[in-house]
Parts: sequence; structure tokens; C-alpha cells
Amino acid sequence: MTTETPQQSPATRTEVPGIQPGASGEAQLEVVGVDKTYQARRGEVHALSNVNLSIGRGEFISLVGRSGCGKTTLLRILAGLLPPTSGTVTADGQSIWRGGKRNDEAFEHFGLVFQDANLFPWYTVADNVSLPLKLRGMGKRARRARATELCELVGLPGFENAYPRELSGGMRQRAAIARALSYDPTILLMDEPFGALDALTRDKMNLELQSIHAQAGATVVFVTHSISEAVFLADRVVLLTPRPGRIRSITPVPLARPRSLETETSVEFQTIVRELRHELDEE
Ligand SMILES: Nc1ncnc2c1ncn2[C@@H]1O[C@H](COP(=O)(O)OP(=O)(O)OP(=O)(O)O)[C@@H](O)[C@H]1O
Ligand SMILES: [Mg+2]
Repeated sequence: MTTETPQQSPATRTEVPGIQPGASGEAQLEVVGVDKTYQARRGEVHALSNVNLSIGRGEFISLVGRSGCGKTTLLRILAGLLPPTSGTVTADGQSIWRGGKRNDEAFEHFGLVFQDANLFPWYTVADNVSLPLKLRGMGKRARRARATELCELVGLPGFENAYPRELSGGMRQRAAIARALSYDPTILLMDEPFGALDALTRDKMNLELQSIHAQAGATVVFVTHSISEAVFLADRVVLLTPRPGRIRSITPVPLARPRSLETETSVEFQTIVRELRHELDEE
């Protein structure tokens, strides 16, 4: 199988690196012809090649692929932290990069969560969670109320006054998610946020992320190394090939929501996971 030979399978999987669904005009995030070459000391590294992806409003996309295939690179480009070498990215129709410069207007509604929670140790949970609101000039009272609401939402009720050192790894990640949600982002970008957690905590976080996604209605791009986590959470799973990263396939996950841990025992779930693992093994 190559990306050059499109196959129309009954499951509507796409193996063409074209612009994918989302009825036209409904896409919230559009990636068109994105290429990235790093200028490293030891020479050039071609990290991404001709990535095209159209992400619908409220859609949950999981991004998977071998280590070093360019997942973080793509997420950083989407997040406005790294300019693409060529190609365009638009959010709500606005280009997020203009001639190598970040278009700050397009970023008002982005939330970011990385592998490391990155909380300030000298701030309480409430202060960490509401820091973006402080930076946006919101008053103390309103910030506090919002922080309480968010702690509730991510399953940290009563921890507003705790310090990060008093929290477990999973709780810190929840606080990081709450912070990312603080200003009602319409797009949430997450890079292996649960990678460092044990399996049970991770299952719990996946269930919580699912309900947060349902409640907040944000569009999510979620990078993970776990195929089952990717399938459990996603509306579509995007698989990148190794360097340079290209979209190898896009797999819709037509499982009913809300999904429970039982979903993972269904034949449908396991078939999708098996097919994706098989594809990864071929890389
Ligand atoms: N700042 C940089 N300078 C040079 N090369 C880089 C830089 N950042 C990433 N790369 C290279 O680009 C490629 C893609 O890296 P990236 O971090 O996007 O991969 P990834 O898919 O996120 O990997 P992982 O699953 O291990 O996190 C790798 O070969 C990496 O070595
Ligand atoms: Mg990475």
C-alpha cells in the first residue's frame, strides 16, 4: 500500500493524502501542502512532506505514527510555535502563519497541553489554571470562580488551593487541561498528555477527556503512541509515515459515544486497532 494508490474500501478509509471530509466550509482547521525541513547542525532534516488535512468543527483527531515521524512537529506548526517551510494552515478561515510570522489574531481560541504539565510550582492549582485569564486581564473574583468551575470539570474539585507538588501526575495533567480550557478554546492541541501515566490513570483520563470534549465542544488534535487510546478517543485516526512524515491513512472510528471501557472489548474496536497496528508494523 502506498499513498499514491488510493483504494476505496467499504469502511471509507482514506489512503490518499488529499484534503479530507468535513463538508466544505465546515472545516475549522485546514492544513494544506505543509512541508517542514529543519536546518540542523548535521544537515537538513525533512520532517514533514505535503501534509493535507481538513478538520471539522468539534471533531476529535488522533495523530499516530512511529517515533520521529513528525507528530510533534505538526502539532507545533498547528500551535503557531513553529513556522512550516511551505504550505498553509488556517483556523476558522484565518491563516495562522503569514510569511513566516505568526498571526496572533488566529490564536485567540487555541489551548495547548503537552506531555509535561508545566505548572508553576509556586502557584496554587487555581492560580495556575486561571493564569491565562489573568494575562487576558480578567479580575480576581471572576478568575477564581472560573478556576473552581474548571477544577470541577476536570475532576479536581477541592484542589483549588493545593500546590502542584501535592498532586499526582494524573492530577497535574488534569490541572494542565483545565488551564488550557480556561479561556474556552475552540481548538485544543494535545501532545502525548497522558504518556507518563500508569494504565489505570490513563483509562480514567481518557474517559474524562471524552466527557470534557463532549461538554466543551472543542476541536481536538491529540498525539499519542497508544493505538488503543487513539481509537478510543477519536472520530478519525491519522497515521503518519516515518520521515519525512506524510499522511499514510485516515481511519474513521464510527463507534457510538459516549464510549466506555467496555467499548474496548467490542469486535469493532479491536478490528480498527488491529488494522492500525498492522499498518504501523508495515512502516
Ligand atoms: N529542532 C529540531 N531541529 C532539527 N531536527 C528536529 C528538530 N525537532 C525535531 N527534529 C527532527 O524532526 C523529526 C520529527 O520530529 P518530531 O519531534 O516531530 O517527531 P515525533 O513524531 O513527535 O516523535 P516522538 O513520537 O518520538 O515524539 C525527527 O527526525 C527529529 O529528529
Ligand atoms: Mg513527539
